[in-house]
Amino acid sequence: MSRTLLRLDTSARHDGSVSRALADRAVAALTAPGDRIVTRDLALGLPHLTASDLAARGAGGASAADPLLDELKAADTLVISLPIYNFGVPVPLKAWVDHVARAGITFRYTEAGPQGLLTGKRAVLVVASGGTRVGSPIDFATPWLRHVLGFMGITDITVIAADALMTAPEAAQAQADAQIAALAA
Ligand SMILES: Cc1cc2nc3c(=O)[nH]c(=O)nc-3n(C[C@H](O)[C@H](O)[C@H](O)COP(=O)(O)O)c2cc1C
Repeated sequence: MSRTLLRLDTSARHDGSVSRALADRAVAALTAPGDRIVTRDLALGLPHLTASDLAARGAGGASAADPLLDELKAADTLVISLPIYNFGVPVPLKAWVDHVARAGITFRYTEAGPQGLLTGKRAVLVVASGGTRVGSPIDFATPWLRHVLGFMGITDITVIAADALMTAPEAAQAQADAQIAALAA
């Protein structure tokens, strides 16, 4: 069965970007011939949420976020590549979340609390960092992304981490290689 993979890249770098290079390999490992791959390079510029976006939401009208939402809803698998920037996520990724986290569309409030509506999807987060260890107390990027994807119903999340690239590059690469190999298995 043909499936759809949505790839989001967020590193400000193109040449030499570790997260993008690893995402190339993760996408190859996760797809089969005939699958549809949709790529959105958020680093090329994503407008931040504006007053007119919010007004369009309230009025049920069209908004700049509609293509982002359509891509996300159509995806079976999501691959998000990100560097850790200043212990958090790159700004364009935060902007993307602000556009797609939408009450009534990607989550809703129930008497039992918030409920994610994007169920049945898998996400693979490809994280690069210079020194911050993924999952450590100073990594505010990965836990936040996990949380907000889960809030929208995406709870099947795998992390590929090439972290501490400045201090232990070989170990970082080896760890990411092993995690990508496990994706294909
Ligand atoms: C603006 C900026 C902020 C950064 N902040 C951090 C940080 O907080 N922690 C860290 O370990 N590395 C930090 N780095 C290093 C990057 O995470 C690292 O170079 C990573 O490989 C970048 O991803 P890329 O190779 O895909 O471009 C920062 C780099 C930049 C450019």
